[in-house]
Amino acid sequence: MEKNLISDRLLAWYRHNARVLPWRGVRDPYAVLVSEAMLQQTRVETVIPYYQRWMERFPNIGSLAAASEQAVLAAWEGLGYYSRARNLWQAARLLVDSGRTQLPTDPDELQKLPGIGRYMAGAIASIAFGRPEPALDGNLKRVLARLFDLELPVDSTAGTGQLWELARQILPCEAAGDFNQALMDLGATVCLARQPKC
Ligand code: ADE
Repeated sequence: MEKNLISDRLLAWYRHNARVLPWRGVRDPYAVLVSEAMLQQTRVETVIPYYQRWMERFPNIGSLAAASEQAVLAAWEGLGYYSRARNLWQAARLLVDSGRTQLPTDPDELQKLPGIGRYMAGAIASIAFGRPEPALDGNLKRVLARLFDLELPVDSTAGTGQLWELARQILPCEAAGDFNQALMDLGATVCLARQPKC
């Protein structure tokens, strides 16, 4: 299928089938960071109440940086993988210490912050800043590997490299954030790991 056709169809599907989630439609980069950090190892349904409580408790980078480590870990309690909470807190403190109140827009700059890897940098850059960046996690790699009938294993270095390249090629520059989140929803509701409906 041609590049534009794939993204047009996917975005049309997303307009009708997007999951209703509290971080959807939110362009605040800090909120995107928090949601993506929580979602990296944890299911959407589990994350929702944690995300809502966290955003009430620490609504911005300044309030998170000013909080105690104890308060931060308490707000994370039950989500597991506590390094994610410590990294969020450290990132907020680093930004505030360097006189910033907002995240950088550039994916390379984002990846210099603790806890932000290639996936999170792409997710924040595309969803919050509208930059044409792919964001591939395990689910998205599966969806794209099936779509393109990839022969290389998705978790090999070469397979991963090829998938990021393919994702960049089919990414619509003007709707990268929606495109990435549409792939996430497709992977979570249709193109499932087991018993796929695609
Ligand atoms: N999984 C990771 N990021 C997500 C997002 N923004 N929406 C839904 N599922 C996700």
